[in-house]
Formats: sequence, C-alpha cells, structure tokens
Amino acid sequence: MTFPRNPKAVLVTGGAGFIGSNFIRSLFKNELFKGVVVNLDCLTYAGNLENLEEVERDFGGERYFFEKAGINDRDLLEQIFDRHGIDAVVHFAAESHVDRSIHGPGEFIQTNIVGTFSMLETARAAWNDRRDVVFYHISTDEVYGSLGDEGHFFENTPYAPNSPYSASKASADHLVRAYFHTYGLPVVISNCSNNYGPYQFPEKLIPLMILNALEGKHLPIYGDGKNVRDWLFVEDHCSAINRILMYGEAGETYNIGGENERQNIDIVHRICEILQENCPPEKNDAFGQNGIRHYRDLIVYVKDRPGHDRRYAVNCDKLKESLGWSPSLTFEEGLRLTVRWYLDHEDWVRHIRTGEYSSWLDKNYGKR
Ligand code: NAD
Ligand code: TYD
Repeated sequence: MTFPRNPKAVLVTGGAGFIGSNFIRSLFKNELFKGVVVNLDCLTYAGNLENLEEVERDFGGERYFFEKAGINDRDLLEQIFDRHGIDAVVHFAAESHVDRSIHGPGEFIQTNIVGTFSMLETARAAWNDRRDVVFYHISTDEVYGSLGDEGHFFENTPYAPNSPYSASKASADHLVRAYFHTYGLPVVISNCSNNYGPYQFPEKLIPLMILNALEGKHLPIYGDGKNVRDWLFVEDHCSAINRILMYGEAGETYNIGGENERQNIDIVHRICEILQENCPPEKNDAFGQNGIRHYRDLIVYVKDRPGHDRRYAVNCDKLKESLGWSPSLTFEEGLRLTVRWYLDHEDWVRHIRTGEYSSWLDKNYGKR
C-alpha cells in the first residue's frame, strides 16, 4: 500500500447524521481526494438530508450519490458496492445516544453490532483479498469505560464499556479488528471523544441545552453535574478522519480527542453566558412574562443516568505524532461558533424540533 490512499469511490454509511454529514462536506474540501462519495443511510430519526443540501447542489449526480438503505440489507449493499465500484468505506452508521440505549438496547444490537457485521461481510466478499482498499470504522472513547480523577485512555487501554451503547460499539470494534487478523481485510479504527458543533441532533448535551434555553425550557443536569467529558469540535474530528483515511496503517487503532476536559455543569453555565450576550432573555419572545432574567435560572438537577460514566479523557499522541494531526479550535472558540450556528439556523432547528424534516424530505427527494 502506498500513501496517501487514492480511493475512487468512498462509501460513507450514516452520512446523513451529525458527524457523517460534516465528514462528507470535509471530504469534498480534501485536496487529495478526487473520487466520488456514496452516502448510504436509512434515515432514522437522526438522519437528515437537509444537512447536505449544498453538497447535493454542488456535487449531486456527479461526485455525490445518496442511497437510501439500511446496513443490514446485504443484497442492497452488494449492489451498491458493485454499482459504484466502492474501494473505501467510512462506517459511521449507528444508533448513537446513550440514553436511548438505556431505554431500548435492541436497536443498538441490531444496528451497531449486526449491522457492522453485515458491512464487514459485504466488503470482504466484494473486495476478495484486495489490499488497495480500506474499511474505516468510526468508534468512540466510551468503549474504554470510566476514569477516576487521574489518567487517560490510550489505544491499548482494556475495553470496559458500561452502557448498552458503548458495549455495542465495543463489540463492533472487536469484529472489525478480527476481520483484519482473520481475513486480512484492511481495516482502520478510530475512537473519538464527545463531538459538538453544527447539525448535531438536539438530544445530546450541547445542542439540547442551547435549544432548551432559547425556548425557555429547563436545562436538566444529571446527578451532580460534575461528570467530565473530553470535547472535540466536529470539524476537527473530521480533519482527523480525513488524515486517517488517507494515511492510517491497516490494522491500527487511533484515539482522537480534544484535550478539552470539562464538567457538564461548567459547559451549561458557559452556554448560558454566551446566550446571555447574544440573545438576552428580555429580547427573546419565548420568555414572555416568566420572570427569568438569566438563562442559568433554567438549570435543574435531575435524577442521574443509570451507570453514568464519571470521566472520559483521551490521549491522542499516537495520531498527533504518527500522522501530524492537531485540532484547530479551542473549546471556547468551538462553543461560540456552535451557539451562533444554532441561532442562525432557525429553519433547520424548526424542522428538527417539529419533525418537519420528514416532509421536507418528501418535498425535495420524493416520497420514500
Ligand atoms: P447520529 O445519530 O447523528 O447519526 C447516525 C446516522 O446513522 C443517521 O444518519 C442514521 O440515519 C444512520 N443510521 C442509523 N442506523 C442505520 C442503519 N441501520 N442503516 C443505515 N444508516 C443508519 O450519530 P453521530 O453522532 O453522527 O455519530 C456517528 C458515528 O460516530 C457513530 O458510529 C458514533 O458511535 C460515532 N461517534 C460519535 C461521537 C459523538 O460525540 N457524537 C463521538 C465518537 C464517535
Ligand atoms: P451526551 O451528550 O448524551 O453524550 P455521552 O453520554 O455520550 O457522553 O451527554 C454528555 C454528558 O452530559 C453526560 O455526562 C450526560 C450529561 N447530560 C446531562 O447532564 N443532561 C442531559 O440532558 C444530557 C442529554 C446529558
């Protein structure tokens, strides 16, 4: 294998989701990439083609193709590999929210584990011992479990997942790794920390808090609010994925992190302050006469999430040293950009909040 890789047709699974759609946009900006992108997504509640409107406009039908399909549909996957001559996979498609996995783990097993198995089997059959191809599996730092006050996750930290979500991702990682060792499938895995930024579905901490605050709703903090996550701006995650796609060694795992550890409560306070500067409650119609003067008055402490991991922190020296990656934004810059993005994208927010994006889809892409 010579580097950089030169894929002609990249299959992105879950490309209509938060990170997948940001990644597709970034791939078209990658000067090393001249090929086509096939976005394969079955459009669950988290998939929204509105995220890719300008990609469809600029590249649709020439370098960008959307295929509505589930990753468990082997027949359709086979046809798609064949029709587009797929020689690289970047596998994002997953159920991604810990709280949903606690309420209903079944979908997580089907999509994250069985679905990854189905992707691996399809790639193995289609590629038939080729070595100039790559199966890149996108995973999470949550597979490593929870840390105490000290220490970091390294690539060789033993897996100890605690939620159905992280257990399903850990299981998928093991399958991907096994396909390298057993069948020689050229695979790469990356395990990233918590992402935030434009187009994130408002069930995750940061967009949920921004939108609840703007709508004058409570800001629910689980437990004591002192759980720590390591936050990375989504475009910095995408620049790491681009680097790994082009230069990552087959069989290797790379940790990706922001080196930005924050307690949840501090993040929510910071969001409230940024909103206070940009859109004070007295100018926000949603507030009416409810007497709230500062967004932080909306904070409420609620019952803790079961099995709530206390702290995540990622060591990403391997990626930095071997592939020369580094993040471009500080957490403060990324958070400001993110708040601004949600303030500036009222239509997107309304479509998501009201479920209108389904009718937007029908209108723009025809009934599915
Ligand atoms: P997301 O929930 O926003 O998007 C998931 C996408 O996958 C959606 O477009 C959905 O329609 C699609 N999908 C779900 N099931 C499918 C199926 N059976 N067939 C085809 N498509 C299907 O998720 P995200 O936050 O963008 O995360 C993407 C990936 O990155 C996931 O694998 C996740 O585990 C991983 N990851 C996420 C984070 C984070 O902070 N969000 C951090 C590290 C790793
Ligand atoms: P989340 O965005 O769901 O990501 P993950 O569970 O994958 O880390 O949650 C981030 C942190 O924020 C986590 O410690 C749980 C906490 N949290 C709240 O306190 N309140 C909320 O409403 C949500 C969604 C999360």
